Amino acid sequence: MAVLNILNYPDPRLHTVAKPVKEVDANIRRLIDDMAETMYAAPGIGLAATQVNQHIQLLIIDTSETKDALQVFINPTIIEKNGERAFEEGCLSVPGVYESVTRAETVTVEALDRNGEKFTLHAEGLLSVCIQHEMDHLLGKVFVEYLSPLKRSRIKNKMLKLSRQK
Ligand code: NI
Repeated sequence: MAVLNILNYPDPRLHTVAKPVKEVDANIRRLIDDMAETMYAAPGIGLAATQVNQHIQLLIIDTSETKDALQVFINPTIIEKNGERAFEEGCLSVPGVYESVTRAETVTVEALDRNGEKFTLHAEGLLSVCIQHEMDHLLGKVFVEYLSPLKRSRIKNKMLKLSRQK
């Protein structure tokens, strides 16, 4: 396994729209393992393939306290959403920034697991937020795009400054 490089906002590659995974094979499972290592090392609770510059519909989440409950979503689609809730979000591609975003309160998602088996999951709370946040990455959308233009440009400047310091 390997820790992969995470793209930082405002890297234009974060706006790439991901393509569906055609076959869940050994290459995909290797990428899942590398993404998991990357996410746990960061540390974070969710990571989309887009963030490691792989533009396929794959995301991983682990919202457990013990960090031993990895959930894999391949070609995810939301088949139902209900309610509305604001939640303070962060993102491994926008380090150090936490802002409130309003999303659906609950979602029902259909996806394939790491064995290519289809499953349906009803999610609420943090898991629901996380699924919606990571699915946005697959559409080329970063959570700061929900914020006002002023806030967004402040964040962009802060990130550019950070990357120059590195
Ligand atoms: Ni993110």
